[in-house]
Order: sequence, then structure tokens, then C-alpha cells
Amino acid sequence: MTIMLRAVTPSFAAAVDGIDLSRPIDADSVRTLWDAINQYAVLVFHDQRLTDTQLRDFAAQFGPLEIGRGALQGGKRRLSLPQIGDISNLDEEHRIRALDDRRRLDSLGNRLWHTDASYMPVPVVLGILHAVTVPPASALGGGETEFADMRAAYDALPDKMKSEIDGLVVEHDIFWSRGQIGFTEFPPGERAKYPPSPQRLVRRHPGSQRKTLYLSAHGSHVVGRPVADGRLLLWDLTAHATQRQFVYSHQWRVGDVLIWDNRCTMHRGRPHEELQARDLRRATTLDTGSTLEQAA
Ligand code: OGA
Ligand code: MN
Repeated sequence: MTIMLRAVTPSFAAAVDGIDLSRPIDADSVRTLWDAINQYAVLVFHDQRLTDTQLRDFAAQFGPLEIGRGALQGGKRRLSLPQIGDISNLDEEHRIRALDDRRRLDSLGNRLWHTDASYMPVPVVLGILHAVTVPPASALGGGETEFADMRAAYDALPDKMKSEIDGLVVEHDIFWSRGQIGFTEFPPGERAKYPPSPQRLVRRHPGSQRKTLYLSAHGSHVVGRPVADGRLLLWDLTAHATQRQFVYSHQWRVGDVLIWDNRCTMHRGRPHEELQARDLRRATTLDTGSTLEQAA
């Protein structure tokens, strides 16, 4: 079969047909998918049924894989592969977590607009998320995941603002993003393990050569400026960048796989009926260098 793309908008998000992600794919197909990622930043695949091993092996064809905070925390885990992130509301026994469960509250940070792992000195590239169980639609929403195009958001800024922010460096901190939702119960030692990281506010995407905003709920303030000024600027830019014309909202079906490029998008989870299971599995590819080395 040949890979077919259906664009959701001319430059952001595309649905991909004609490929089975459970089997090894050839180098040409990997290149075709990279080209599509560089153009659309978000790819949607339907009707895939991947084991965690298949998801890991598919993702590994795009780069070395991250082992996330959840897997590094130790203790019993629901999922056995450390490269697979548990994006669910389920505990080790597959029971729905209580509303006050610490891991659940930590994961609610995903409801804020963010890009993954921007608090790490070398952040990540692709997020690859696979839907195993999807909650039913409810008055609160159906647990959609939304994506915002940071390249289009950058392009739409006034020229004066572009030159104002071009060289800025932002401090990203997981404790700042979790603090925004009142979550402070980190395990002992966690603070020391994840010190804040500086990241460029404007990056150039190496695959498309487009300039892009690099914003995230983890972004705390601008280095070298009073915290308040930087924070207010980041709030303004985030409000600009998440206007609906820049957003694709994905309604999950079981079997969906989504790939997004964390270097040029933000995403957030949406609410759902909390006592219904939602089970997504994520693999993430690592970048090779700090954003500070990447001149915009
Ligand atoms: C993630 C994430 C949001 C969601 O997996 O990185 O932020 O909708 N997920 O679960
Ligand atoms: Mn995320």
C-alpha cells in the first residue's frame, strides 16, 4: 500500500492512510513520514492496534527514545516498558485512580498548554500517542487532545514583536507548571533531579526551516529580566498562540495513533468524566542538543 495524506488544514495536521504501524516500515516510508511531520507537525493514524512493544519499535525508527519522569520515579508501574509513558488515569492494578491520587494530580498538568519535557536541558522531538481505551463523551468533554501550531502563531505576530522576542531565553521548570495547578507533592529528591532549563523562545525548525515559538506551561520567565515581566510576556504569547485558528482538536477513537512535533507545537489534554477509564500510551523521541545551540 502507499502512504496517503489528507490535510486537515493546508499547513497543520494531516490524516495518514495506507500504513500499518505494527510492522517494521521501510526507510522510504520513514522519510515520507518525516516529510509529512515537517510540513504538518501533527499526523493522525486510525485503526492501529499496537502492543507496547510495537509502539516502542515504531517510535524507535524516528530517534532514540525518552524514559520519562513516571518510569524513572521507581515503584510498581502498570506498564512494563520504560520507554512507554503511561498517559492514563489507571493505577498498577488497572483501577481508576482516586480523585486525590498524587500521580493523577501530577498528570493533570497535561491539561495546561505545553510542549513535552521543555524543562529538560535537551528536550524532546516527537510525541507518539496511541489510544487503547477512550472515555465516552460527557458534559465535561471526551478527553480530547488539542494541538496548537507554533509556526503559524509566530508568523502571525507583528514584525516589531518578532524582533523584540527573537533572542530571548526562557527558564522552563516542571515545578512552576505543576505549581500553577496547585500540585507541589513531588517525591523526595525530585526537585534536585529536575532543575530548571533555559530554552530559546524562538527556534528555527530544522526540518522546515520555519521559525517557531517555543512556549510551554513549564516556561516560567525570561532570563535576565524581572520574573513578572517575563511571565506576563509568556502569558500574552500563549494567549495569542492558542487562538482557535491555530488549533487542531483531536477526538480520540480506540486504535488512533498521533504523532506531533514538540519543537513547533503545543498540546493539552481536555477534561472527561473522571470515573471512566482513559488509557493512552506514549513514546517520545529525544533531541540531540540544547535549543540554545540552535540559532533562530
Ligand atoms: C502527553 C499529553 C495530553 C492528553 O501525552 O504528553 O500531554 O490528552 N497528553 O492526555
Ligand atoms: Mn504532553
